[in-house]
Amino acid sequence: MQTVKVEIPQNQAGSYPIFIGQGLLENAGTYIKQYTKAKKLLVVSNNTINSLYGEEVKKSLEQAGYEVYFLLLEEGEQYKNADSLQKIWTEAIRLKLERKDALIALGGGVIGDVTGLAASTYLRGVGFIQLPTTLLAQVDSSIGGKVAINHDSGKNLIGSFYQPKAVLADISALKTLSLREFKVGLAEVLKYGFIEKSCGLSGLNSSFSLYLMENKASIMALEPSIVENLVKYCCRLKAAVVNKDEKESGLRAILNFGHTTGHAVEKCYGYKGINHGEAVAIGMKGAFFIAMEKGLISQKYFEDALSLLNNYEMDYRIEKNISIDSLYEAMQVDKKVQSGKIRFILPVSPSEVRIFDDVNKQQLNNALKKLY
Ligand code: NAD
Ligand code: GLY
Repeated sequence: MQTVKVEIPQNQAGSYPIFIGQGLLENAGTYIKQYTKAKKLLVVSNNTINSLYGEEVKKSLEQAGYEVYFLLLEEGEQYKNADSLQKIWTEAIRLKLERKDALIALGGGVIGDVTGLAASTYLRGVGFIQLPTTLLAQVDSSIGGKVAINHDSGKNLIGSFYQPKAVLADISALKTLSLREFKVGLAEVLKYGFIEKSCGLSGLNSSFSLYLMENKASIMALEPSIVENLVKYCCRLKAAVVNKDEKESGLRAILNFGHTTGHAVEKCYGYKGINHGEAVAIGMKGAFFIAMEKGLISQKYFEDALSLLNNYEMDYRIEKNISIDSLYEAMQVDKKVQSGKIRFILPVSPSEVRIFDDVNKQQLNNALKKLY
């Protein structure tokens, strides 16, 4: 078992551990004990995850002395909405949860985001613990405190920053993920390869992209030591960024590499039929095409980057019935828009990115066309 500490200097309550290893879910009670004084715990999950891991989590939490309740939400990104949030609030009120009690998110990014928003708002804030069960949630969404729901007009438009008290990333849970969902997480892992040098983690001495290229077979075979190290390294990169900019006043925007286009794609699909990571993979390719349009990167880096994406079979394409105009329109309501300008995180050299708000419509059109 390995631990990464997230330290947020501006927010003492925001420092917490991420435990990474095998068998953490069946020992959840022992791990969370020192991070909550709760009497009651409300575990939020869905049917699929509950049938796989609910029992062991419940048993362990009860053995640790908690009163444990479960609320199962509908499954899917389209349920990361106000109805699900309302269901959690209603259940918390029905159970008479008090401020010292806690909500536990058992699941992927959808469950984590909506449960975190409920925890941050119910009684103006109760305890919150993340038990991420997807690769995406373990390397990204369970860390850093962004909690949100979608609005019909755009992705994650309603949310807040609310840090968990602890995160338990049990890599054994990744064994039951479908290949499709595992690849979705890998898209965010590849993202770290493209932004690594901009994250401000000290002591970098090798390239994460190269590591990903060389270790693909072990990663795809879920070799425990490799996966544990992979999750740990992504968490360290994200923790380094969040440490410097918890509330995204600057640096943290780099974590949204590929997301300006990605979020627009998800919105145009109506959050159905495409997963977040698939949309981000499309968006990352888009960022490389835009960077070429703007002359920001060499042909060699462009080819290396696309070859890494292709090596992991990130061969997703936008469906023809989604127009470039509708994507453009969706980008206008992205959270990153500032003074009416759409912002893109673009590659400028290997593993380095910068924020740009001067991508013109022609450059964007030329790049987007290549994503179909
Ligand atoms: P998800 O939560 O929808 O989970 C994917 C699917 O896998 C679901 O059907 C789920 O039931 C199933 N599942 C989960 N764990 C499983 C397991 N161990 N075995 C078998 N099936 C399992 O998707 P996701 O990719 O985890 O998360 C995507 C969401 O995360 C998006 O809403 C995205 O916006 C959000 N996100 C948030 C942040 C953040 O910082 N808060 C960062 C990145 C992404
Ligand atoms: N996934 C983007 C962020 O956490 O800032």
